[in-house]
Amino acid sequence: MGMTLQVSQLRKTYRDNVIFDACSYTFKDSMAYAIVGPNGTGKSTFLRMCALLEKPDAGTIDFLHGDRALDKSDGIMRRITLLLPSVGVFNTSVYENVAYGLRVRKCKNTEIEQRVAALLKLVGLHDKMKRRALTLSSGETQRMGLARALAIAPEILMLDEPTAAVDTANYKAITDILLSVKHSMKTTIIFATHDVKLADNIADRVVTVSDGLLMEI
Ligand SMILES: Nc1ncnc2c1ncn2[C@@H]1O[C@H](COP(=O)(O)OP(=O)(O)O)[C@@H](O)[C@H]1O
Ligand SMILES: [Mg+2]
Repeated sequence: MGMTLQVSQLRKTYRDNVIFDACSYTFKDSMAYAIVGPNGTGKSTFLRMCALLEKPDAGTIDFLHGDRALDKSDGIMRRITLLLPSVGVFNTSVYENVAYGLRVRKCKNTEIEQRVAALLKLVGLHDKMKRRALTLSSGETQRMGLARALAIAPEILMLDEPTAAVDTANYKAITDILLSVKHSMKTTIIFATHDVKLADNIADRVVTVSDGLLMEI
C-alpha cells in the first residue's frame, strides 16, 4: 500500500513574506501529483515541509495508511524521500551511492546486490555501476539520485525539479523512469516542476501554488 499525505491549514512565512496560508490538500495513495508554477511561488518550500525537513509556522502534515494516521513510532522518515535538484554525491562508486540507504538499513548483501542491480537497470546506469559517481554527467547524476531514492522503496517519492539542468536524452529517460515507477510501484509521487509538459505527461493531478493555497488546475 502507498501512503496518503494530508496537509491541513498549513501556514509558512519568511519574515513578512507569506508563502502558504490556510493551505489544505490531500495527496492520495499511489497517485502522481505535479506542483507547477513559476520560480519563487513556494514549490520547494512546500516539498521540504512535506518531507519534514522544515517546519510550517502552523498547520499539520499527516501521513496515512488508509484511515490510520501514522505517528513517530512508524518511522515515517525512513518511508518517504525527497530528491533535490542537485543530488548530493558520495565520493565512491555509482553502485555504492545507490546502495547507501540499504546499507544504513542493514540489508543483507545479496539483497542489496539484487536491488541495486535492478535499479541501475531501471535508470540505465547498469554499465556504469563501478564508475566513480563524481565523473557522471548531470543527467546521469540525476538518474543515479533517482535510483538511490527508489532503493529504499519509499511510500512517498517527492522530487524537486527532477529534470532541471538535464539534456533532451536525459529528460526523456527521467520521464520514462517516473512513468515506470508510477505504473509498477505502489508509490505516491509528488514532484515540483516549472515544466507544464512534464507535469501533464506524468501526473494524475496538477496543482499550482496560488495566493498561499494549492489549487488543482
Ligand atoms: N530559507 C529561506 N529564507 C527566506 N526566504 C526563503 C527561504 N526559502 C525560500 N524563501 C522564499 O520563499 C519563496 C518561495 O521559494 P521556493 O519555495 O524556493 O519557491 P519555488 O520552489 O517555487 O521556486 C521565495 O520568495 C523565496 O525567496
Ligand atoms: Mg524550487
